[in-house]
Amino acid sequence: MPRLDLDTLRPAVAWVGDRIEIIDQTELPGELVVVELDSVDAVVDAIYRLAVRGAPAIGACGALGLVIGLDEREPSDVSSARAALDQLAEIIGSARPTAVNLRWSVDRVRDAATVGTTPDEIRSLALSEALTIIDEDRDACTLIGEAGRAELAGIVNIMTHCNTGRLATAGWGTALGVIYAKAAAGEPVKVMASETRPLLQGARLTTWELQDAGIDVTLMSDGSDAAAMAQGKVEAVIVGADRIAANGDTANKIGTFSHAVNAHHAGIPFYVAASLSTFDLDLSSGAGIEIELRSGEELTSWRTEPTAPDDVPTWNPAFDVTPADLITGIITEVGVLHPPFKESIRAAFTTGGEL
Ligand code: MRU
Repeated sequence: MPRLDLDTLRPAVAWVGDRIEIIDQTELPGELVVVELDSVDAVVDAIYRLAVRGAPAIGACGALGLVIGLDEREPSDVSSARAALDQLAEIIGSARPTAVNLRWSVDRVRDAATVGTTPDEIRSLALSEALTIIDEDRDACTLIGEAGRAELAGIVNIMTHCNTGRLATAGWGTALGVIYAKAAAGEPVKVMASETRPLLQGARLTTWELQDAGIDVTLMSDGSDAAAMAQGKVEAVIVGADRIAANGDTANKIGTFSHAVNAHHAGIPFYVAASLSTFDLDLSSGAGIEIELRSGEELTSWRTEPTAPDDVPTWNPAFDVTPADLITGIITEVGVLHPPFKESIRAAFTTGGEL
């Protein structure tokens, strides 16, 4: 029987006693280590080194980070509190560039708090908005799960990439939210999790959290996807997203594009699952999405062990962009969006999904 009571599980990001507590995801699956973040430097560092990761979770952490920053700076009047909000949104919002949720969250907290008329009120508005963002994300995950469950009725064997579950969001997750919703409804579901080089979010995190929930999961290497599809082991692919442009082009963890190409070749549906906070309607296509380039050391070593000569030139983009025409549907909290995405995405933001 799956074990699916979110309230009994430690959240990836929590506000506890005027501090942020995160599960340090760099330590999983070995140990469940909880780290307290009590300074802006610690927040930025945790986001950058992927101790907290996944677009909605870094959005939640960044939003609470503004409160930490106000507490650290102790502004004595309204104008210095407002200036601090602007600076903090800029500093924290730049910690990682690709996930739009981070910038969206810090801007939302800044805008909600800046109308306060005392430093105390500004701090209280900032905290309340950050906690609202977290609650909304939890609810969005539940709705995404249900929308995806209806869309993928009868599909059992699902492949996913990276980690999009309770470690990456404030709820059950986006792509993994669909898996959890199926399991909670008593429907059969089997997950193929690709390992997700170079930082192994699929191997370390997705298999850990699905096993913890009692859900059937098999680990596969990233490069085995085409073979798995050819052998009939995959009926559908569902991935998350870090930023979705107005035409449906989707940035997600490096390797996603290649899974989409292979799914297309195999005639397998390829879904993206994400909340509306992951869309960037200012971008007409994925060409405008900034892709985070990370240190080559993530390729040339694992912790202290070399995996390649340390002087070999490297190229280490953290994300790629899957063109919209490879995507079967985008599963959101207002329903499943289908092509043509320009129209269905516009409808999701204007009429709540009605075309
Ligand atoms: O570099 P990461 O681990 O933060 O990348 C995470 C992903 O690519 C996820 O698929 C995405 O953020 C969606 S999480 C619901």
